[in-house]
Amino acid sequence: MSLIEISNVTKQYNGGDEVVEALRGVDIAIEAGEFITIMGQSGSGKSTLLSILGGMNHPTSGEVAMAGVELYRLPGEKLADFRAQNLGFVFQSFHLIPYLTAIENVLLPLAIVKMKGADKNAAAKRALERVGLGNKADRLPNQLSGGEQERVAIARAIVNNPKILLADEPTGNLDSRTSDEVMALFRELNDAGQTVVMVTHNPENCRYSDRSINLRDGLVVGQN
Ligand SMILES: Nc1ncnc2c1ncn2[C@@H]1O[C@H](COP(=O)(O)OP(=O)(O)OP(=O)(O)O)[C@@H](O)[C@H]1O
Ligand SMILES: [Mg+2]
Repeated sequence: MSLIEISNVTKQYNGGDEVVEALRGVDIAIEAGEFITIMGQSGSGKSTLLSILGGMNHPTSGEVAMAGVELYRLPGEKLADFRAQNLGFVFQSFHLIPYLTAIENVLLPLAIVKMKGADKNAAAKRALERVGLGNKADRLPNQLSGGEQERVAIARAIVNNPKILLADEPTGNLDSRTSDEVMALFRELNDAGQTVVMVTHNPENCRYSDRSINLRDGLVVGQN
């Protein structure tokens, strides 16, 4: 069995009086340890697929199994626990809280995890060290460069040792050099065993991944 099995997933949104078919029957299997990029034009359904994978968006039909658990058969509270224990998210615009320091931002996902305070602090420090920011833990986001802020967002996403790290256009707001550094960091995490699923529209980013899945109009149209 694969780590992630997406079977015949569809998603329809009610946009005003028309129904948008964002996903129209998607099947994907992802193995533990893979680094997958999801490519496709704007509106092809990439973010929808990632949010469904992340347990944040109920599909209209179909199944998503992760480590043998059918995500959307879990009751809401159990799904939230599953997310907190197994998934990490990185978004395009970082979503760092401006009045919290780097380490306080990294601590946020542990808020609902049962752990001693000292262990949480140690985990947050370790995550910042892994992204090369151990010495900047007490800076506020506006005292960090764009690439460093992205690294804080990545540290926050890996602080719970997730089975799967999900990222939606994590380099979308970065210049090409900083973007390469951030991609190299994802690669490094993957080399250390982290499963990564990343949405990107930049073909350059695909060279860092093991496999690239192409979406068009809500369907998988190719993998390589
Ligand atoms: N909450 C929503 N309500 C209605 N329609 C939506 C909603 N979210 C997405 N859509 C529509 O679903 C389709 C797929 O959107 P999605 O955000 O998954 O695309 P995407 O591939 O991530 O695009 P981009 O590259 O621009 O981020 C689009 O037609 C979009 O307008
Ligand atoms: Mg998107």
